[in-house]
Amino acid sequence: MDLDVFERICVKAKDETKGNCRFGLYNWTEPTLHSRLNELIAIANRHAIPCGISSNLNHYYDWSLLKSVDLCNFTITVSGFTQKTYAINHKGGRIEPVLKNLVDISSILGDSPSYKNIQVRYLVHRDNKHEVSSFKHLCDRLGLAFSVYHAYYMPIDRMFEGLEGVPDGLDYIEYSPKLVRGAIGDYRTSKCALRDGQVVLDVDGNFGVCCVESPSAPQIANFLDTPFRDMQKARFASELCTKCIDQGINVLATYAQYEPQSVQDAVNSSLPFDLKSLI
Ligand SMILES: C[S@@+](CC[C@H](N)C(=O)[O-])C[C@H]1O[C@@H](n2cnc3c(N)ncnc32)[C@H](O)[C@@H]1O
Repeated sequence: MDLDVFERICVKAKDETKGNCRFGLYNWTEPTLHSRLNELIAIANRHAIPCGISSNLNHYYDWSLLKSVDLCNFTITVSGFTQKTYAINHKGGRIEPVLKNLVDISSILGDSPSYKNIQVRYLVHRDNKHEVSSFKHLCDRLGLAFSVYHAYYMPIDRMFEGLEGVPDGLDYIEYSPKLVRGAIGDYRTSKCALRDGQVVLDVDGNFGVCCVESPSAPQIANFLDTPFRDMQKARFASELCTKCIDQGINVLATYAQYEPQSVQDAVNSSLPFDLKSLI
């Protein structure tokens, strides 16, 4: 994204949310591939907008560039400790640069205020639980926060497909749409944190319906040309939202974390293992 466009987005977002906003410089993309990532974060910092990133650490990056900026969160997404296991979910990914980057991040950013906001997110599935403890051990050694999440189907088209059966190549994912829908029964909610509390903008500042939509999905309009109220109105009115809520996919995509405890318990007890037991 162009720095000028980004700055105008900062100004508009801060104004329309009365400063109650934060930025995540990622969705389907990899922020370390942006040659001016540190400058984007610095612009958000200048506007006092909390700014975070999420990375798969598959690319070598000059982490010293991030020493002078504030990161409200820095998520590191992993799904295995050995190449064989890592490649199951991170198809085409390489674990070697991930591990090297983790060590470099700890030595280069270890004394920066943002270091406490770095969190390794281990996406758990059927075939990688045996390596969770090795990854946690490494993070403990590096003083990095570590958490486990269920890997789920991406993008939303696969989630809908998953209500009928297991799409090709996703049999290793246990947190499936069919399982979650079976667990929640007739429970539905028209609320969705992915629509009500966040919006994704593409490289030109165009917005779509939500973050689990395919990156190739047609965008609705441009954030800079659209008043906030009209943007939300268009998103709420989208066919995709209606279908998603009708099928209960918004519950799956948010890990049921905003739903009544009984619904959360139903989802957790429907899974073949308890995430918490892994760490
Ligand atoms: C698609 S990633 C892109 C950002 C960055 N490249 C990364 O890998 O963190 C955006 C967010 O989705 C999460 N994510 C990626 N694949 C996922 C999956 N199969 N299930 C659940 N969350 C996933 C990641 O942890 C990340 O925070």
